[in-house]
Amino acid sequence: MTEPVSPLSPAGDRHFDGLADKFAASLYGGARGELRLALLDRLLPEMLDLQGQPLLDVGGGLGQLAGWFAGRGHAVTLAEPSAEMLARAREPLQEQNVRFLQAPLQDLPEQAPGPWPLIACHAVLEWLADPRVALALLAGLLAPGGQLSLMVFNRDALRLSNVVKGNLEKALADRLEGKGLRKRLTPISPLTHGQVEAWSAENGLVIREVAGIRVFSDYLRRPPESQAERERLLALEHRYCRVDPHWRLGRYLLYTLERPTHPPQEASE
Ligand SMILES: C[S@@+](CC[C@H](N)C(=O)[O-])C[C@H]1O[C@@H](n2cnc3c(N)ncnc32)[C@H](O)[C@@H]1O
Repeated sequence: MTEPVSPLSPAGDRHFDGLADKFAASLYGGARGELRLALLDRLLPEMLDLQGQPLLDVGGGLGQLAGWFAGRGHAVTLAEPSAEMLARAREPLQEQNVRFLQAPLQDLPEQAPGPWPLIACHAVLEWLADPRVALALLAGLLAPGGQLSLMVFNRDALRLSNVVKGNLEKALADRLEGKGLRKRLTPISPLTHGQVEAWSAENGLVIREVAGIRVFSDYLRRPPESQAERERLLALEHRYCRVDPHWRLGRYLLYTLERPTHPPQEASE
């Protein structure tokens, strides 16, 4: 009998080979994906200091974010380990100023060392076996004064949505993460805000901004039925996405992390 081939990489990460169709349909094909992009369109200019800097997009997936930045004059390097995702990203971006690099985050210190003034890493850390080491690697690629736009899947929101759906046993056992096997889109390493705070501090990164992405939408009993309702929902999401306590239960947490120009001074004797 042949052993089933694991979809996990040697590092234990879930590269998206074999998942591109499902990801495109379920994350970007519907209202949730539209909302995420509409929110990012508003939030990225509010949360980042954008001046056309070169951008490294880590785990760039289907390339929506790369396209957004390239369209605003940034020279983009899209790094992505999955050949299938890269192939899909290339087509819509062929006219844009985007360089493609087939590489996992772990290879970037050699393949795209920078240092970079601007890095994006959206919805990637939760697919890695060791997101803490990954954040350290990202910090090492940032130039002094550089900004990291980091988006992570929020473990606390995953708990709430499981309870809302009636998955009480799973929530009580705190068995929230997926295993990365088959074609499931439940991340293997959902993160908490506390982890992002602690790991940022470990790597000398300062949290400049934080927002919740989809703070209401995933808990609705009735999805919006008209364009007017979808617009009201977007207005509500935008109004409360950076307001305590709402941001804390966003499906994703979006951060601007900065590497300070000068490392903090040691307290003098
Ligand atoms: C949920 S998708 C997010 C794609 C894109 N950043 C976005 O926001 O739409 C996660 C991506 O991370 C990639 N990925 C998985 N392991 C990775 C690794 N070790 N280094 C870089 N990217 C990785 C996957 O192949 C997939 O394209």
